[in-house]
Amino acid sequence: MDGAYLLGAVVGEVVGGVRDLRAALRRQRAGSADLVRAARMLGSARGRLAVRTAVRRRSVDARDLPAAGPDRARTPGLVVGAEPEPGGGVVRFSRAELRVRVAAGGAVFCGWDGAVPLPSYALAGDCPEADPRAQLEPDGAGWRVVSERITVRISAQGAVEFRTPGGLLLRTEGPPTWRDAASPAEGRAPGWEQRARLPADARVFGLGGRASGPALRTGRYRLWNTDPGGAFRPGDDPLSLTMPVQLVVADAGCHLAFQDNTWDGEVALWEGREGAGSGPDQPGICRLRMEGGPLRYWVIAGTPARVLSGWTALTGRPALPPRWALGHHHSRWGFGSQQEVRRVAAGYREHGLPLSVLHLDIDHFDGHRVFTADPRTFPDLPGLAEELAGHGVRLVSIVDPAVKAEPGLATYDGGAAARAFVRDARGREIRGAVWPGECVFPDFTDPAARAWWGAQYRERLDRGFAGFWHDMNEPVSFAAFGDPTLPLSARHALEGRGGDHREAHNVYALEMARAGYQGLRELRPQQRPFLFSRSGWAGMQRYGGTWSGDVATGWEGLRASLALVLGMGLCGVPYSGPDVGGFSGVPSPELYLRWFQLGAYLPLFRTHSAIGAGRREPWEFGPEVLGHARAALEERMRLLPYLETLAHVAHRTGAPYVRPLWWKSPGDRALRECADAFLLGDALLVAPVLEEGATSRQVRLPRGKWHDTATGRAYPGRTTVRLDAPLGRIPVLARAGAVLPVTGADGRVELEAWAPRTGRGGGGEVVVGDPEGWTAPRRERFVSRWEKGRVVVEREGGGEVGYEVRVRAAEA
Ligand code: GLC
Repeated sequence: MDGAYLLGAVVGEVVGGVRDLRAALRRQRAGSADLVRAARMLGSARGRLAVRTAVRRRSVDARDLPAAGPDRARTPGLVVGAEPEPGGGVVRFSRAELRVRVAAGGAVFCGWDGAVPLPSYALAGDCPEADPRAQLEPDGAGWRVVSERITVRISAQGAVEFRTPGGLLLRTEGPPTWRDAASPAEGRAPGWEQRARLPADARVFGLGGRASGPALRTGRYRLWNTDPGGAFRPGDDPLSLTMPVQLVVADAGCHLAFQDNTWDGEVALWEGREGAGSGPDQPGICRLRMEGGPLRYWVIAGTPARVLSGWTALTGRPALPPRWALGHHHSRWGFGSQQEVRRVAAGYREHGLPLSVLHLDIDHFDGHRVFTADPRTFPDLPGLAEELAGHGVRLVSIVDPAVKAEPGLATYDGGAAARAFVRDARGREIRGAVWPGECVFPDFTDPAARAWWGAQYRERLDRGFAGFWHDMNEPVSFAAFGDPTLPLSARHALEGRGGDHREAHNVYALEMARAGYQGLRELRPQQRPFLFSRSGWAGMQRYGGTWSGDVATGWEGLRASLALVLGMGLCGVPYSGPDVGGFSGVPSPELYLRWFQLGAYLPLFRTHSAIGAGRREPWEFGPEVLGHARAALEERMRLLPYLETLAHVAHRTGAPYVRPLWWKSPGDRALRECADAFLLGDALLVAPVLEEGATSRQVRLPRGKWHDTATGRAYPGRTTVRLDAPLGRIPVLARAGAVLPVTGADGRVELEAWAPRTGRGGGGEVVVGDPEGWTAPRRERFVSRWEKGRVVVEREGGGEVGYEVRVRAAEA
């Protein structure tokens, strides 16, 4: 196609009708910029491919998406009867029916119109058994189910109320409205809408990774995994990893609501307000609109720890990273050659900076083709891996899902022979555009395609890679206009049920992670797989972690980094971290250092940047920054036994390493608003510097008592204190009484004990596990208390302590 023709096609597509244009504008905010984007793209081969792909995507969808009929709305109508079942029952309305079932463990399932818990991409395995003690009973004109943790009341009109055992209201889901058809211009399937009311003081967290969090403010949040197409800022939404999981915190209690529906949707949130004076409260509203799929959801209530435990019991406990993945990672798009990788590794050694992992981005592939290596610039990866291993450094490889559509290329030929690639309704492979050029996309919703894909990791293991970094898996197909992904009409196996991209899109990365994880378990059964992924969905923690994607370099990007990690943790994905220093541009030395100091306390601590962006090695920012970065790295290594303990706690209970300040005091409203500090496990409170030029900062302390780890000084909880934050460090506080494992000067694990409050005790846990394998870990608990003016630490249950104990802060 020549340029003039293409431009004509683009113009025709974009301005092809007022309705279409309106839809395009609505769906991607920058609709009018499309034309400019498309025209600009005509100048390069990749750009022309992106234009061609967008045109093709549009016409395939126009041909293959089902046409919609007339718009019709339906509500449940009035209650007409009910039938008990184990754990609850089915309540019938004149035009719909609702199944309520309390599962053992306390999670409540609600499914309208015959929706049942399985099949589900989120659930880890079988659906939990019903709790036989929970029974459906009449309740005025409606019905109720009383269970240990939640009371569910179903009104005669189909509203569903969730209350604590003490009767406090957590959430009311209004009667749903189904749209039996939708605007043909948007080619949507029938969908539905539901409005929940939340207590006026409630704060909503989660919905996957949201740059504007951690508490989600009044606004609209789309549920459609989307590559923001360049470095993103706090206002950009959605991003790569969305999930319909809300964690709600209010005075009444905490609960998690999960809509088990993979389709495109939107949550519109209106924060509640408490009535001024004697005025009425204004409840929070959460309106969910889905473009299709079943209306079924789960509600789990309790303390934050119980909720995360219930959630990860349902969707799978977080994978345990190997110990080395808790060290420092360094990455760059554009190392360009083996020599450069060696030079960077040597730089870390020469500057006395501990390094655990180096990541190779797409530039090490041969022409960006996944599962290859450039023979000129990376001729001997096994040799490089071996050499780095000698210095204690592992190699991680990027893995993009798109495979270059190139007969003769082993991955393409193998995938085509296995019929592993996504096809259109006529059975032709869907072609898109990604880094290597024209590409095809494995259908990870097909078990056979997953098995084929999982086997491809052998090539990576043979080249010496120890871990995997999944990228571009929203999935991305570059487009000059419209959504940069596959056509909505693209066909997917969906485990044999069959369906199209509207249903499969959001679980594409989740199922890619499953394929990679299972492949690695088969290829290297004695080692725990390490993978993390840009996109994903509910339940992805079973396979690995995530990172924050292409966060823009800037102070607001730094703040978004923390919001993303906190939000993901509350959705059950505890292992994550940002591109330290930001993905784009060149951070100032101060910004780089503050980012580095935050990163040192996050589960995934990785410096990374884009190909055109500045360097991120700590010695590139002058001697002062280098010295402070070294101190942050050393502290990270000192805390490694504690981080390993937290990884085990997350794996066992779902509690994230990085927790909001309200974790143990969800009733503390001031803490719900805190977006600039966090708890690292039970023992530490980290208060990063997120403002340019700051050399001190305020910290709001949760209840209890806290020691400034730099000065040992103790501060009472429920106060706001100002602490020094010179360039060399960020404030970190330890909970009075905490006992945590750290690396001692001789390299052995020792216990650090912080003086408990007078008359009170304290304690902590130590988990020492297999660094890479599957052997069950050893769990030990210690208690601390005052005895005759001294702090003593004892092993719970008696016996030798078995560790050197270092008491910090003698002050009570
Ligand atoms: C995407 C990733 C980024 C990576 C780049 C090249 O933008 O988010 O981390 O460096 O692709 O692979």
